[in-house]
Amino acid sequence: LQTLLSDSREILIDNDQGGYTIPAKGLYPYQWNWDSALVAMGWATLDEARAWEEMTKLFSAQWDDGMVSHIVFHKPSTTYFPGPEIWGSVEKPRKSTGITQPPVAAITVRNLFEQAVNKELALTKVRELFPKLLSWHRWFKTARDPENTGLVATLHPWESGMDNSPAWDEPLRNVPVDDIPPYVRADLTHVNSSMRPSQAEYDRFLTLVYRFRAVDYDCNQLYYLSPFRVTDLCTNSVLYRANLSLRWLAELLGELDVLPEIDGWLESTRAAFSSLYDPEAKMFKSKDQLTGKLLNASTSAGFLPLFARIATPTQAQELAGTLERWLSCVKYGIPSNDPESADFEALRYWRGPIWAIVNWMITDGLRAYGFDSLAQRVESDTYELLGSGIYEYYDPTDGKPAGGGSFSWTAAMCLAWLS
Ligand code: DGY
Repeated sequence: LQTLLSDSREILIDNDQGGYTIPAKGLYPYQWNWDSALVAMGWATLDEARAWEEMTKLFSAQWDDGMVSHIVFHKPSTTYFPGPEIWGSVEKPRKSTGITQPPVAAITVRNLFEQAVNKELALTKVRELFPKLLSWHRWFKTARDPENTGLVATLHPWESGMDNSPAWDEPLRNVPVDDIPPYVRADLTHVNSSMRPSQAEYDRFLTLVYRFRAVDYDCNQLYYLSPFRVTDLCTNSVLYRANLSLRWLAELLGELDVLPEIDGWLESTRAAFSSLYDPEAKMFKSKDQLTGKLLNASTSAGFLPLFARIATPTQAQELAGTLERWLSCVKYGIPSNDPESADFEALRYWRGPIWAIVNWMITDGLRAYGFDSLAQRVESDTYELLGSGIYEYYDPTDGKPAGGGSFSWTAAMCLAWLS
């Protein structure tokens, strides 16, 4: 364990760019939104001030409309595509992408405050960050749920953080490929193509970027014009949990005026969430908002309502049964895709591999619902996997590490969770 922890610390220090942490050298050379929020929890175990700085740096790029971008391009790099020249967003107030990512930040801020030894610094930082978090969550409500359904829309697979999830196959088929400028992918120079999204997916990812760019990422238009619009289980679960955290932070600061607003969000999400449950599959499913259909794929995001604390006790019991079935089919858990499904691919990014951060979120949820032995199984699997190297993801059939190496959020999970 000591070697694992010191390797993890070294990775964070090595990937530190001065106030923000890149996910991995070469492959991801900028600040990623949810990566940073998770990485901050790792930093907190070695340097609280540095952990807060990670969040300050992320929010330094918050747009006027409240959005926090999925990538912030603090410094130029030649090793990533699509970089700032493709996104074309002028400084808003920093060079950044025009889409967002699952809003982990409020969960992190609460966690950092609760763990803090230096409570004075923590309180100052919470005061500074609270209005920014509130404005981002308000953006989700107005820009991504303008019809007031209680569930927010995700308009690009990159926003879900689970880019090539099999859940997006169907909605992506309805995205036409425009006559976009020719491009060269940089990811394939770092990682084998068998572990990355396909070319057909990239053509659609970029089509969406160019369409959004054409309206300068105007959040009042994107919801209506995007040919990809889904209710993503990960984003909605994380947002619900983040709203619980935001509420907790509001109480801490005595910001009682905003409580009815946050309570309203929580209530409407709770009312809407059971529409995402498929009782036959005993699993939560994402939804295509443009066709109104639940998406067939069962992915690890389906267990995240446990992390959110939004699953009912009966649903939680059934989810635990589903997870047990999944685990009986693989050597290590938790695969990102149902191991019995035809589109399961053990090494391809979000179509099968295990991600330590997802294991952390699901384990946290399992414990909250009292499934301790299942949580224990996932924890010991994760521990074994990390022993073979701190990578981006792992093959659930044999535990082989895959994707990028010396990976920041995997290292952070080691520090924050297993130490
Ligand atoms: C990538 O480039 O693979 C990232 O996941 C986009 O956010």
